[in-house]
Amino acid sequence: MKSPVVFLVTTAAFFPAYAFQLPFKLPFFSSASSQVPLITNDTPEPQTIPNRIAIIGAGAAGSSAAFWIAKAKERYGLDVDVDVYDKNAYIGGRSTTVYPYDDPSLEPHELGASIFVKVNKNMWRAVDEFGLERVKFDGDDDEGVMGIWDGHEFVLTTGGSGFYSDWLDKIKILWRYGFKAPTKTQALVKSMVDRFLTLYEPSPPRWSNITSVVSDLEWTGHTAQTMAEYLDLQGVDKRFSRELVEAATRVNYGQDVDKIHALEGMCSLAANGAASVKGGNWQVFEQFIAKSGAQVFLNTTVKSITKLSPSVPFIVQTATSNNARLYRSVILAAPYHQTGIKIIGEPSSLATVPPQPYVRLHVTLLSTSAPTPNATYFNLQAGSKAPGTLLTTHDGVRQRGHAEPEFNSLTYHGHVLTKEGEKRLTAAGEEEWVVKIFSKARLTDEWLSGMFEGKVGWVLRKEWDAYPVLPPTMEFPPVKLMDGLYYVNAFEPLISTMETETIASRNVVELLMQEQFDAGLCKTSLAETGEPETERRKDDFVYGWDC
Ligand SMILES: Cc1cc2nc3c(=O)[nH]c(=O)nc-3n(C[C@H](O)[C@H](O)[C@H](O)COP(=O)(O)OP(=O)(O)OC[C@H]3O[C@@H](n4cnc5c(N)ncnc54)[C@H](O)[C@@H]3O)c2cc1C
Ligand SMILES: *[C@@H]1O[C@H](CO)[C@@H](O)[C@H](O)[C@H]1NC(C)=O
Ligand SMILES: *[C@@H]1O[C@H](CO)[C@@H](O)[C@H](O)[C@H]1NC(C)=O
Ligand SMILES: *[C@@H]1O[C@H](CO)[C@@H](O)[C@H](O)[C@H]1NC(C)=O
Repeated sequence: MKSPVVFLVTTAAFFPAYAFQLPFKLPFFSSASSQVPLITNDTPEPQTIPNRIAIIGAGAAGSSAAFWIAKAKERYGLDVDVDVYDKNAYIGGRSTTVYPYDDPSLEPHELGASIFVKVNKNMWRAVDEFGLERVKFDGDDDEGVMGIWDGHEFVLTTGGSGFYSDWLDKIKILWRYGFKAPTKTQALVKSMVDRFLTLYEPSPPRWSNITSVVSDLEWTGHTAQTMAEYLDLQGVDKRFSRELVEAATRVNYGQDVDKIHALEGMCSLAANGAASVKGGNWQVFEQFIAKSGAQVFLNTTVKSITKLSPSVPFIVQTATSNNARLYRSVILAAPYHQTGIKIIGEPSSLATVPPQPYVRLHVTLLSTSAPTPNATYFNLQAGSKAPGTLLTTHDGVRQRGHAEPEFNSLTYHGHVLTKEGEKRLTAAGEEEWVVKIFSKARLTDEWLSGMFEGKVGWVLRKEWDAYPVLPPTMEFPPVKLMDGLYYVNAFEPLISTMETETIASRNVVELLMQEQFDAGLCKTSLAETGEPETERRKDDFVYGWDC
């Protein structure tokens, strides 16, 4: 596929309208002549460039970028202002919660990103430092039964604890897939996680392009193959990869093992001990921004980023105000093609962001007084119980000509609770459960009614551009779009999680600090001096926090 030119070339025709909107005067706009100056042969006078950074996006990436900048400022004694823009009225982006029945006296539920794990050291550390509370992921119900549905029948069900706990111990798994497939897969996940952990060490890899970090972490083999190809080559039983592993790639990324690249596939499996923040993961991102002291503009859509020559500042123009602001540097912390932002600059200085499709995911959150899904739908005997954690595989389609499952996952998330943790009963005095369904298409009211036997209470539907479509690839988006303009979400086609967005932002902030302020994120780290400056055990060390 050929990449179209995504940046607007500054043409004279474009200038008058643009200049008209500017509420402030720049030398090259306020020239006496009414002629629009041409930047090509009329280089503007150098002017004072403010020590101010714009961050566009207040999700995991943008909020953590503000936090890292604050750390760098503190360590280097810099005087830098930071503005964070988000078009939403809330901080968190794809990480946000909703209340059942829209009732704030009830326990909220995650509508987007739900879980993180202990090796996600930035998230884990932030929860501790910010005095938040971690809870075991609520899908992990000890009495829960998990089933993998192929559109016609369950290829596997496990009793007792849920998918994210000690699922490898399940005798049924050994029975169906043998001993080697799970143990081999587990070893591969461990070695991937070990490489991942080097990102937190005192001298972590730093990169100006994604290809370079992929090769530093020795992940080229992972990103160049599908999860299916990778596990096949490692001699892992095909039934195991096409069923159990695929259940994980489908619930986490909405993609099948023969489509998704092996690195993201492996990340889907590294979900041991999954946790979330009580009250909502977005609180971590809110705290990142609060602790950073950055100024936040919510409800504010950025329309354009302009830099006409190296000697002038960036101009960030929003939809709502005619107060364009000037910046030394800009961090784009949102998927570029979804922002609608025009980047305007000298064409020769601009990098091109290749088109990046995202998975359109339908999330349906609902409450039901049905304690389990409709057994008849799953071709189980009437009166028997269907599992409360339903994962899916495409293997029924591939192997047995069954219909594609109508959903990617359907999970019971415990009772509808009050904030005090008590069961909240319906007007009819019935207890209710919260259920989350991921699907590729909208689920109609009739469908929901059939699945929960007419016992549906509250329903909320949300469509997300959830994560990139992740086929094997050797090419990634640029991290620098021009001098001073950095792109955090270039990392997403490699791995898309809350944690990795905080790592990608750390890398970008370090690069920005070096290039624009002759500073860094950390002063010489303890590994480099050989002198431990803290009592932290090596295991606890987190680069950027402990330096
Ligand atoms: C349903 C679902 C489940 C998921 N599950 C998990 C999970 O369990 N664990 C996990 O780690 N990850 C999960 N993810 C992925 C995770 O949500 C993302 O990887 C991560 O949150 C991305 O963070 P970000 O800051 O890069 O982007 P976003 O969170 O998308 O933030 C970008 C922000 O930029 C703003 N923006 C865009 N354009 C403009 C503009 N022109 N002007 C101003 N602001 C703009 C947006 O409003 C948005 O707030 C899930 C995602 C979804 C949708
Ligand atoms: C955002 O805009 C909406 C609609 O104009 C308004 O109701 C809301 O109060 C605004 N929120 C914030 C945080 O500015
Ligand atoms: C990527 O970065 C590496 C090392 O930082 C460098 O050698 C290489 O030339 C870069 N590649 C591109 C395409 O910019
Ligand atoms: C249960 O599902 C079956 C099969 O989809 C459907 O025919 C039936 O009407 C459902 N039961 C209820 C009570 O909705």
